[in-house]
Amino acid sequence: MAAPRTLWMALVLLGALGVLQTPARAQASVQPNFRQDQFLGRWFTAGLASNASWFREKKAALSMCSAVVAPAPPGEGDGVLNVTTTFLRRDQCETRSLLLRPAGPPGCYSYTSLYWGSTQDVWVEETDYGEYALLYTVGTGDRGFHMATLYSRTQTPRAAVREKFTTFAEAKGFAEEDVVFPPRTDKCLEGHQ
Ligand SMILES: *[C@@H]1O[C@H](CO)[C@@H](O)[C@H](O)[C@H]1NC(C)=O
Ligand SMILES: *[C@@H]1O[C@H](CO)[C@@H](O)[C@H](O)[C@H]1NC(C)=O
Repeated sequence: MAAPRTLWMALVLLGALGVLQTPARAQASVQPNFRQDQFLGRWFTAGLASNASWFREKKAALSMCSAVVAPAPPGEGDGVLNVTTTFLRRDQCETRSLLLRPAGPPGCYSYTSLYWGSTQDVWVEETDYGEYALLYTVGTGDRGFHMATLYSRTQTPRAAVREKFTTFAEAKGFAEEDVVFPPRTDKCLEGHQ
């Protein structure tokens, strides 16, 4: 009675191949009923976790950034966001903007990084708009990486929010020591609450 068993094995193998053939899209979800208009405004990058090589090298030296999320000009298309990040680098404030284009369900975006030469998918997985947002980014290409980000409306997120982020990052496969809460600096965040 080998045949049924062989058939079963074949089905299992096909099933497994089917799984392997689906694009290596990471497990990600979006905030249900995501409201883009409420996501706009200033955030601070209060927590980070990534396996990108730049992150591994620099994580001890990172400081908190400010990120302003604004609608991009209508000419860029519907629902495109312009995210302007200001951060301290070699004692100077630097500013960088990137455009997040809607990609799938509301709360899911992608952008093409000229610097990395790759496409990155960004999911706003959870947010209450007024206090925090948990973002998940997957970069494709030969510099493939993934990253979890905590956006906080204040520079001093509550312990409960930090814990929420650690739990989120761990669910994405990061170890506790991969999770960084970059310290705030007076320099580039000055004048902002
Ligand atoms: C994005 O916002 C920044 C800061 O306001 C601005 O300098 C930049 O031109 C904007 N980019 C686009 C494509 O609108
Ligand atoms: C980071 O992790 C992702 C998912 O586990 C993997 O596909 C990628 O190759 C890793 N990248 C680096 C630079 O370790």
